[in-house]
Amino acid sequence: MTPRFEPVGMAYDDVGRGHALLLVHGFPLSRRIWRPQIEALRSRYRIVAPDLRGHGETEAPEGVYPMAEMAADLRRLLDHLGVETAVVAGHSMGGYVAFAFYRALPERVRGLILVDTRAEPDNERGRRGRAEMIRLARERGAEAVAAEMLPRLLSEETLEGKPEVADEVYQIMAATPVSGLVGALQGMADRPDSVPLLKQIAVPTLILVGEKDVLTPLPYSDRMHADIPESHLQLIPRSGHLPSLEAPEAVNDAIRLFLQQLPK
Ligand code: MLT
Repeated sequence: MTPRFEPVGMAYDDVGRGHALLLVHGFPLSRRIWRPQIEALRSRYRIVAPDLRGHGETEAPEGVYPMAEMAADLRRLLDHLGVETAVVAGHSMGGYVAFAFYRALPERVRGLILVDTRAEPDNERGRRGRAEMIRLARERGAEAVAAEMLPRLLSEETLEGKPEVADEVYQIMAATPVSGLVGALQGMADRPDSVPLLKQIAVPTLILVGEKDVLTPLPYSDRMHADIPESHLQLIPRSGHLPSLEAPEAVNDAIRLFLQQLPK
């Protein structure tokens, strides 16, 4: 049975032993996107992979989900599990949450892994897109949002060559409650600019980006790499926005190497 941390109704996996790795999924996904990494790394690390509020098996309250509030959910979960420090890996929206976590609690972060994400806030056009997506979710439900997002989330290689991955990603998105979609979309639209934070990041940071990512393409990662002092950038071939599932071996290798090189 999935463990649940009741104060925030949060479903999570907590497997393995060793230094902790906190895996934070993007929108509108769930901890299932990290399954290959959990399997590959659990023999050497303690892996904590929650479903963020509004996603997966976690509760989906009505209202806006600020990135700082989602980061506070993670802090409460780590406290509950007795995890003092962790490497925090965030995919896309999970990266926005990772920035919020680092901003609030840098002393609890041993390292950062930023996967297909960006530090910039939404611009006007981006916020209009969020409003349209909120309308789509309310009027036509999560399946319409999933159908709209899928072709932009995955590379053509994945869509054509790995239909089982495309199918799983669609199923995860289509199962997201409408209150979760709306809360996260509004939270992302309101999120602060994390560009000024980049130069203050004082932990080793691995930046991964799918070479075919059209949602958060390479220039966003170049920007993070240029500004984060101790960072390494790696392009993931043939992957779109979701390399943890599209190119799992490349992601596993990159994360494994990064974790091995961290100071103990
Ligand atoms: C995500 O994958 O988490 C979202 O596409 C991020 C965003 O919409 O900004």
